[in-house]
Amino acid sequence: MIFDLVIHRARVATMLGGWGVIEDGAVAVIGGKIGWVGNSQSSPRAERLVDAECQWLLPGLIDCHTHLVYAGDRSQEFEERLAGRSYQEISAAGGGILSTVAATRLATEHQLLESAVSRGKEFVRQGVTTLDIKSGYGLNLEGELKLLRVARRVGDELGIRVVTGFLGAHACPREYAGRPDDYIDEVITMLPHIKAEYCDAFMESVGFTSAQTRRLFFAARHRGMGLRLHADQLSNREGGALAAEFGAWSADHVEYTSLESVAAMASAGTVAVLLPTAFVCLGETRRPPVAAFRSLGVKMAVSTDCNPGTSPSTQLHLAMHQACVLFGLSSEEAWLGVTAHAAAALGLSNVVGQISQGQIADLTLWDFHHPRAVVLQLRDWTPKQVWRAGVALT
Ligand code: NIG
Ligand code: FE
Repeated sequence: MIFDLVIHRARVATMLGGWGVIEDGAVAVIGGKIGWVGNSQSSPRAERLVDAECQWLLPGLIDCHTHLVYAGDRSQEFEERLAGRSYQEISAAGGGILSTVAATRLATEHQLLESAVSRGKEFVRQGVTTLDIKSGYGLNLEGELKLLRVARRVGDELGIRVVTGFLGAHACPREYAGRPDDYIDEVITMLPHIKAEYCDAFMESVGFTSAQTRRLFFAARHRGMGLRLHADQLSNREGGALAAEFGAWSADHVEYTSLESVAAMASAGTVAVLLPTAFVCLGETRRPPVAAFRSLGVKMAVSTDCNPGTSPSTQLHLAMHQACVLFGLSSEEAWLGVTAHAAAALGLSNVVGQISQGQIADLTLWDFHHPRAVVLQLRDWTPKQVWRAGVALT
Protein backbone atom coordinates (compact mmCIF):
# COMPACT_ATOMS: atom_id res chain seq x y z
CA MET A 1 0.00 0.00 0.00
CA ILE A 2 1.22 3.53 -0.76
CA PHE A 3 0.35 6.10 1.90
CA ASP A 4 -0.43 9.77 1.22
CA LEU A 5 2.20 11.05 3.62
CA VAL A 6 4.95 9.67 5.82
CA ILE A 7 6.63 11.80 8.47
CA HIS A 8 9.82 10.03 9.50
CA ARG A 9 12.89 10.61 11.70
CA ALA A 10 10.65 12.08 14.41
CA ARG A 11 10.63 11.73 18.16
CA VAL A 12 7.01 10.69 18.35
CA ALA A 13 5.10 11.28 21.61
CA THR A 14 2.03 9.12 21.01
CA MET A 15 0.32 10.18 24.29
CA LEU A 16 -0.95 6.62 24.72
CA GLY A 17 -1.25 6.51 28.52
CA GLY A 18 1.73 8.88 28.90
CA TRP A 19 4.40 10.34 26.67
CA GLY A 20 4.64 7.00 24.83
CA VAL A 21 7.82 8.06 23.06
CA ILE A 22 9.05 6.33 19.91
CA GLU A 23 12.60 7.53 19.24
CA ASP A 24 13.33 7.70 15.52
CA GLY A 25 9.63 7.18 14.86
CA ALA A 26 7.50 7.50 11.76
CA VAL A 27 3.82 8.10 11.13
CA ALA A 28 2.02 7.21 7.90
CA VAL A 29 -1.18 8.97 6.87
CA ILE A 30 -3.87 7.83 4.46
CA GLY A 31 -7.26 9.40 3.77
CA GLY A 32 -6.73 11.97 6.54
CA LYS A 33 -6.16 9.29 9.18
CA ILE A 34 -3.14 7.73 10.80
CA GLY A 35 -2.64 4.42 9.03
CA TRP A 36 0.61 3.24 10.54
CA VAL A 37 2.97 4.18 13.42
CA GLY A 38 6.40 2.66 13.98
CA ASN A 39 10.14 3.04 13.53
CA SER A 40 11.63 5.06 10.69
CA GLN A 41 13.63 2.04 9.46
CA SER A 42 10.46 0.11 8.67
CA SER A 43 8.29 3.02 7.48
CA PRO A 44 6.10 2.29 4.45
CA ARG A 45 6.16 4.02 1.07
CA ALA A 46 4.25 7.24 0.51
CA GLU A 47 3.47 9.90 -2.09
CA ARG A 48 5.11 12.47 0.13
CA LEU A 49 7.93 12.05 2.64
CA VAL A 50 8.65 14.61 5.37
CA ASP A 51 11.94 14.42 7.25
CA ALA A 52 11.27 15.57 10.83
CA GLU A 53 15.02 15.90 11.48
CA CYS A 54 14.68 14.37 14.95
CA GLN A 55 12.15 16.96 16.12
CA TRP A 56 9.15 16.12 18.31
CA LEU A 57 5.87 15.03 16.74
CA LEU A 58 2.80 15.25 18.98
CA PRO A 59 -0.96 15.10 18.52
CA GLY A 60 -2.61 18.43 17.69
CA LEU A 61 -3.60 20.19 20.89
CA ILE A 62 -7.20 20.25 22.09
CA ASP A 63 -8.78 23.02 24.13
CA CYS A 64 -11.86 21.28 25.50
CA HIS A 65 -13.64 24.16 27.31
CA THR A 66 -14.09 27.62 25.82
CA HIS A 67 -16.76 30.30 25.57
CA LEU A 68 -14.99 31.79 22.55
CA VAL A 69 -17.94 33.61 20.95
CA TYR A 70 -19.04 36.73 22.80
CA ALA A 71 -19.16 40.51 22.61
CA GLY A 72 -18.51 43.26 25.14
CA ASP A 73 -15.95 43.95 27.79
CA ARG A 74 -15.91 43.10 31.49
CA SER A 75 -12.78 44.96 32.56
CA GLN A 76 -14.84 47.17 34.88
CA GLU A 77 -15.94 44.06 36.77
CA PHE A 78 -12.34 42.96 37.02
CA GLU A 79 -11.58 46.28 38.76
CA GLU A 80 -14.53 45.68 41.09
CA ARG A 81 -13.26 42.22 41.94
CA LEU A 82 -9.80 43.67 42.63
CA ALA A 83 -11.51 46.06 45.03
CA GLY A 84 -12.99 43.11 46.91
CA ARG A 85 -16.39 42.51 45.33
CA SER A 86 -17.06 38.83 44.64
CA TYR A 87 -18.10 37.24 41.33
CA GLN A 88 -21.31 36.09 43.08
CA GLU A 89 -22.13 39.66 44.25
CA ILE A 90 -21.49 41.07 40.79
CA SER A 91 -23.65 38.34 39.22
CA ALA A 92 -26.48 38.87 41.71
CA ALA A 93 -26.49 42.58 40.79
CA GLY A 94 -27.08 41.68 37.12
CA GLY A 95 -23.44 41.79 36.01
CA GLY A 96 -21.26 38.78 35.24
CA ILE A 97 -22.64 36.46 32.57
CA LEU A 98 -25.71 38.68 32.07
CA SER A 99 -23.63 41.70 31.14
CA THR A 100 -21.99 39.67 28.37
CA VAL A 101 -25.44 38.43 27.33
CA ALA A 102 -26.63 42.03 26.87
CA ALA A 103 -23.64 42.92 24.67
CA THR A 104 -23.76 39.66 22.72
CA ARG A 105 -27.45 39.97 21.90
CA LEU A 106 -26.73 43.37 20.35
CA ALA A 107 -23.80 42.17 18.26
CA THR A 108 -24.21 41.08 14.65
CA GLU A 109 -23.16 37.65 13.52
CA HIS A 110 -20.38 39.25 11.51
CA GLN A 111 -19.01 41.11 14.55
CA LEU A 112 -19.12 37.96 16.67
CA LEU A 113 -17.37 35.96 13.96
CA GLU A 114 -14.62 38.51 13.51
CA SER A 115 -13.72 38.71 17.19
CA ALA A 116 -14.00 34.94 17.71
CA VAL A 117 -11.81 34.17 14.70
CA SER A 118 -9.19 36.59 15.95
CA ARG A 119 -9.11 34.84 19.34
CA GLY A 120 -9.27 31.46 17.61
CA LYS A 121 -6.12 32.28 15.64
CA GLU A 122 -4.28 32.61 18.93
CA PHE A 123 -5.23 29.01 19.76
CA VAL A 124 -4.18 27.75 16.33
CA ARG A 125 -0.82 29.47 16.78
CA GLN A 126 -0.23 27.29 19.85
CA GLY A 127 -0.86 24.07 17.92
CA VAL A 128 -4.58 23.66 18.67
CA THR A 129 -6.40 21.59 16.06
CA THR A 130 -9.59 20.87 18.04
CA LEU A 131 -11.44 23.61 19.89
CA ASP A 132 -14.51 23.45 22.08
CA ILE A 133 -16.95 26.37 21.81
CA LYS A 134 -20.02 26.71 24.01
CA SER A 135 -23.01 28.95 23.52
CA GLY A 136 -24.56 30.51 26.64
CA TYR A 137 -24.49 34.26 26.00
CA GLY A 138 -27.76 34.32 24.04
CA LEU A 139 -30.13 32.73 26.56
CA ASN A 140 -33.01 32.66 24.07
CA LEU A 141 -33.46 30.46 21.04
CA GLU A 142 -32.46 33.04 18.48
CA GLY A 143 -29.42 34.14 20.45
CA GLU A 144 -28.20 30.62 21.18
CA LEU A 145 -28.62 29.57 17.54
CA LYS A 146 -26.65 32.64 16.48
CA LEU A 147 -23.73 31.72 18.75
CA LEU A 148 -23.68 28.11 17.59
CA ARG A 149 -23.74 29.17 13.93
CA VAL A 150 -20.81 31.50 14.55
CA ALA A 151 -18.96 28.74 16.44
CA ARG A 152 -19.22 26.39 13.47
CA ARG A 153 -18.07 29.13 11.10
CA VAL A 154 -15.01 29.71 13.29
CA GLY A 155 -14.03 26.10 12.60
CA ASP A 156 -14.48 26.60 8.85
CA GLU A 157 -12.49 29.83 8.81
CA LEU A 158 -9.60 28.44 10.82
CA GLY A 159 -9.55 24.97 9.26
CA ILE A 160 -9.75 23.23 12.62
CA ARG A 161 -12.31 20.96 14.26
CA VAL A 162 -14.78 22.85 16.45
CA VAL A 163 -16.94 20.93 18.91
CA THR A 164 -20.05 22.86 19.90
CA GLY A 165 -21.83 22.80 23.24
CA PHE A 166 -25.31 24.15 24.03
CA LEU A 167 -25.11 26.13 27.27
CA GLY A 168 -28.62 27.64 27.35
CA ALA A 169 -28.56 26.92 31.09
CA HIS A 170 -25.63 29.27 31.73
CA ALA A 171 -27.59 31.88 33.71
CA CYS A 172 -31.20 32.88 34.20
CA PRO A 173 -31.87 35.79 31.79
CA ARG A 174 -33.50 39.04 32.97
CA GLU A 175 -36.82 38.15 31.29
CA TYR A 176 -37.05 35.18 33.65
CA ALA A 177 -35.70 36.90 36.78
CA GLY A 178 -36.90 34.98 39.83
CA ARG A 179 -38.36 32.22 37.61
CA PRO A 180 -35.45 29.87 36.91
CA ASP A 181 -37.75 26.82 36.68
CA ASP A 182 -39.72 28.49 33.91
CA TYR A 183 -36.47 29.33 32.15
CA ILE A 184 -35.34 25.69 32.33
CA ASP A 185 -38.68 24.76 30.72
CA GLU A 186 -37.81 27.24 27.97
CA VAL A 187 -34.32 25.77 27.54
CA ILE A 188 -35.88 22.31 27.20
CA THR A 189 -38.14 23.60 24.43
CA MET A 190 -35.05 24.92 22.62
CA LEU A 191 -33.42 21.46 22.47
CA PRO A 192 -35.12 20.17 19.30
CA HIS A 193 -33.84 23.23 17.39
CA ILE A 194 -30.28 23.01 18.62
CA LYS A 195 -27.46 21.57 16.55
CA ALA A 196 -24.63 20.92 18.99
CA GLU A 197 -22.64 17.89 20.07
CA TYR A 198 -23.53 18.18 23.75
CA CYS A 199 -25.61 19.99 26.33
CA ASP A 200 -23.94 21.78 29.25
CA ALA A 201 -25.23 23.62 32.34
CA PHE A 202 -23.84 25.83 35.09
CA MET A 203 -24.87 24.18 38.36
CA GLU A 204 -24.03 26.72 41.05
CA SER A 205 -25.52 29.30 43.41
CA VAL A 206 -25.30 31.83 40.57
CA GLY A 207 -26.48 29.23 38.05
CA PHE A 208 -28.99 26.39 38.43
CA THR A 209 -29.90 23.87 41.11
CA SER A 210 -29.31 20.16 40.83
CA ALA A 211 -33.06 19.56 40.34
CA GLN A 212 -33.13 22.03 37.43
CA THR A 213 -29.98 20.52 35.93
CA ARG A 214 -31.45 17.02 36.18
CA ARG A 215 -34.59 18.06 34.37
CA LEU A 216 -32.56 19.51 31.52
CA PHE A 217 -30.16 16.55 31.40
CA PHE A 218 -33.01 14.02 31.18
CA ALA A 219 -34.42 15.89 28.18
CA ALA A 220 -31.03 16.37 26.48
CA ARG A 221 -30.00 12.76 27.03
CA HIS A 222 -33.34 11.66 25.61
CA ARG A 223 -32.46 13.59 22.45
CA GLY A 224 -29.14 11.74 22.19
CA MET A 225 -26.95 14.72 23.06
CA GLY A 226 -23.70 14.29 24.95
CA LEU A 227 -23.59 15.92 28.37
CA ARG A 228 -21.07 18.03 30.26
CA LEU A 229 -21.42 20.07 33.43
CA HIS A 230 -19.90 23.19 35.01
CA ALA A 231 -19.64 21.52 38.40
CA ASP A 232 -18.56 22.43 41.93
CA GLN A 233 -16.71 25.59 40.90
CA LEU A 234 -17.61 27.87 43.81
CA SER A 235 -19.24 25.39 46.19
CA ASN A 236 -19.77 21.65 46.51
CA ARG A 237 -23.16 20.69 45.00
CA GLU A 238 -22.17 17.10 44.23
CA GLY A 239 -21.98 18.18 40.59
CA GLY A 240 -19.33 15.56 39.88
CA ALA A 241 -21.72 12.81 41.06
CA LEU A 242 -24.61 14.24 39.03
CA ALA A 243 -22.45 14.39 35.90
CA ALA A 244 -21.36 10.80 36.51
CA GLU A 245 -24.91 9.61 37.12
CA PHE A 246 -25.92 10.92 33.69
CA GLY A 247 -22.83 9.48 32.01
CA ALA A 248 -21.56 12.98 31.19
CA TRP A 249 -18.33 13.22 29.24
CA SER A 250 -16.90 15.65 31.77
CA ALA A 251 -17.37 17.66 34.93
CA ASP A 252 -15.57 20.99 34.63
CA HIS A 253 -13.92 23.27 37.23
CA VAL A 254 -14.42 20.71 40.08
CA GLU A 255 -12.52 22.69 42.73
CA TYR A 256 -15.07 21.78 45.44
CA THR A 257 -15.80 18.25 44.20
CA SER A 258 -16.19 15.76 47.08
CA LEU A 259 -14.47 12.40 47.34
CA GLU A 260 -17.86 10.72 46.83
CA SER A 261 -18.23 12.58 43.55
CA VAL A 262 -14.69 11.64 42.52
CA ALA A 263 -15.53 7.98 43.10
CA ALA A 264 -18.70 8.31 41.01
CA MET A 265 -16.76 10.02 38.22
CA ALA A 266 -14.19 7.22 38.28
CA SER A 267 -16.87 4.55 37.85
CA ALA A 268 -18.62 6.45 35.07
CA GLY A 269 -15.44 7.45 33.21
CA THR A 270 -16.35 11.14 33.54
CA VAL A 271 -13.32 13.37 32.85
CA ALA A 272 -12.33 16.13 35.31
CA VAL A 273 -11.62 19.32 33.34
CA LEU A 274 -9.27 21.61 35.27
CA LEU A 275 -9.50 25.33 34.55
CA PRO A 276 -6.68 26.94 36.49
CA THR A 277 -6.82 30.33 34.77
CA ALA A 278 -10.39 30.87 36.02
CA PHE A 279 -9.16 29.83 39.48
CA VAL A 280 -6.45 32.50 39.27
CA CYS A 281 -8.67 35.25 37.87
CA LEU A 282 -11.32 34.70 40.54
CA GLY A 283 -8.70 34.63 43.28
CA GLU A 284 -9.90 31.20 44.36
CA THR A 285 -8.05 29.23 47.01
CA ARG A 286 -9.78 25.85 46.95
CA ARG A 287 -7.87 23.44 44.71
CA PRO A 288 -9.46 20.50 42.87
CA PRO A 289 -8.90 17.06 44.45
CA VAL A 290 -6.11 16.11 42.04
CA ALA A 291 -4.63 13.38 44.25
CA ALA A 292 -8.03 11.65 44.45
CA PHE A 293 -8.58 11.98 40.69
CA ARG A 294 -5.18 10.45 40.13
CA SER A 295 -5.50 7.60 42.61
CA LEU A 296 -9.00 6.60 41.46
CA GLY A 297 -8.08 6.89 37.79
CA VAL A 298 -10.22 9.89 36.79
CA LYS A 299 -8.73 11.40 33.64
CA MET A 300 -7.80 15.07 34.02
CA ALA A 301 -8.04 17.51 31.13
CA VAL A 302 -6.68 21.08 31.15
CA SER A 303 -8.25 24.03 29.37
CA THR A 304 -8.27 27.82 29.23
CA ASP A 305 -12.02 28.30 29.91
CA CYS A 306 -11.58 31.27 27.54
CA ASN A 307 -14.43 33.65 28.43
CA PRO A 308 -14.81 37.41 28.88
CA GLY A 309 -15.33 37.42 32.64
CA THR A 310 -13.64 34.79 34.75
CA SER A 311 -10.88 33.64 32.41
CA PRO A 312 -10.12 36.14 29.66
CA SER A 313 -7.35 34.00 28.23
CA THR A 314 -6.48 32.27 24.99
CA GLN A 315 -3.26 30.90 26.47
CA LEU A 316 -3.53 27.12 26.60
CA HIS A 317 0.17 26.65 27.31
CA LEU A 318 -0.19 28.99 30.29
CA ALA A 319 -3.12 26.89 31.58
CA MET A 320 -0.86 23.82 31.37
CA HIS A 321 1.78 25.65 33.41
CA GLN A 322 -0.81 26.75 35.97
CA ALA A 323 -2.27 23.24 36.24
CA CYS A 324 1.21 22.05 37.22
CA VAL A 325 2.27 24.87 39.50
CA LEU A 326 -1.08 25.47 41.22
CA PHE A 327 -2.77 22.06 41.11
CA GLY A 328 0.23 19.73 41.18
CA LEU A 329 0.03 18.05 37.78
CA SER A 330 3.19 16.71 36.18
CA SER A 331 4.13 18.06 32.75
CA GLU A 332 3.15 14.68 31.30
CA GLU A 333 -0.31 14.99 32.90
CA ALA A 334 -0.61 18.54 31.55
CA TRP A 335 0.11 17.29 28.02
CA LEU A 336 -2.35 14.40 28.43
CA GLY A 337 -4.78 17.10 29.58
CA VAL A 338 -4.62 18.89 26.23
CA THR A 339 -4.46 15.75 24.08
CA ALA A 340 -5.87 12.31 24.97
CA HIS A 341 -7.85 13.39 28.04
CA ALA A 342 -9.20 16.53 26.41
CA ALA A 343 -10.45 14.31 23.58
CA ALA A 344 -12.27 12.15 26.13
CA ALA A 345 -13.90 15.27 27.62
CA LEU A 346 -15.28 16.01 24.14
CA GLY A 347 -16.53 12.48 23.52
CA LEU A 348 -13.73 12.01 20.99
CA SER A 349 -11.64 9.25 22.58
CA ASN A 350 -9.96 7.19 19.86
CA VAL A 351 -10.78 9.90 17.29
CA VAL A 352 -8.19 12.57 18.13
CA GLY A 353 -5.65 13.26 20.89
CA GLN A 354 -3.24 10.38 20.34
CA ILE A 355 -0.88 9.22 17.64
CA SER A 356 -2.21 5.77 16.93
CA GLN A 357 -3.60 3.87 13.98
CA GLY A 358 -7.15 4.87 13.09
CA GLN A 359 -7.06 8.34 14.67
CA ILE A 360 -7.49 11.50 12.61
CA ALA A 361 -4.04 12.72 11.50
CA ASP A 362 -4.00 15.95 13.54
CA LEU A 363 -0.28 16.36 14.21
CA THR A 364 2.16 19.01 15.40
CA LEU A 365 5.92 19.16 14.88
CA TRP A 366 8.02 21.14 17.40
CA ASP A 367 11.67 22.09 17.80
CA PHE A 368 11.79 22.08 21.61
CA HIS A 369 14.23 19.91 23.53
CA HIS A 370 11.33 18.08 25.23
CA PRO A 371 7.54 18.75 25.34
CA ARG A 372 7.86 19.70 28.98
CA ALA A 373 9.51 22.93 27.81
CA VAL A 374 6.05 24.21 26.80
CA VAL A 375 4.81 23.67 30.34
CA LEU A 376 7.84 25.10 32.09
CA GLN A 377 8.93 28.02 29.94
CA LEU A 378 6.39 30.81 29.52
CA ARG A 379 7.29 31.58 25.94
CA ASP A 380 5.45 31.99 22.68
CA TRP A 381 5.74 28.32 21.65
CA THR A 382 4.42 27.62 18.22
CA PRO A 383 4.80 24.42 16.21
CA LYS A 384 7.03 24.33 13.14
CA GLN A 385 4.32 22.50 11.25
CA VAL A 386 0.70 21.50 11.86
CA TRP A 387 -1.30 18.87 9.97
CA ARG A 388 -5.07 18.80 10.27
CA ALA A 389 -6.46 15.49 9.00
CA GLY A 390 -3.17 14.93 7.23
CA VAL A 391 -3.15 18.29 5.43
CA ALA A 392 -0.53 20.91 6.29
CA LEU A 393 -2.23 23.82 8.06
CA THR A 394 0.69 26.22 8.49
O1 NIG B 1 -16.69 28.59 32.89
N1 NIG B 1 -18.81 29.09 35.13
C1 NIG B 1 -19.55 29.52 34.28
N2 NIG B 1 -19.20 29.96 33.10
C2 NIG B 1 -17.96 30.54 32.81
C3 NIG B 1 -17.94 31.95 33.20
C4 NIG B 1 -18.60 32.73 32.20
C5 NIG B 1 -18.65 34.20 32.51
O2 NIG B 1 -18.45 34.64 33.66
O3 NIG B 1 -18.96 34.89 31.54
C6 NIG B 1 -16.83 29.72 33.35
O4 NIG B 1 -16.06 30.14 34.21
FE1 FE C 1 -17.02 27.60 31.38
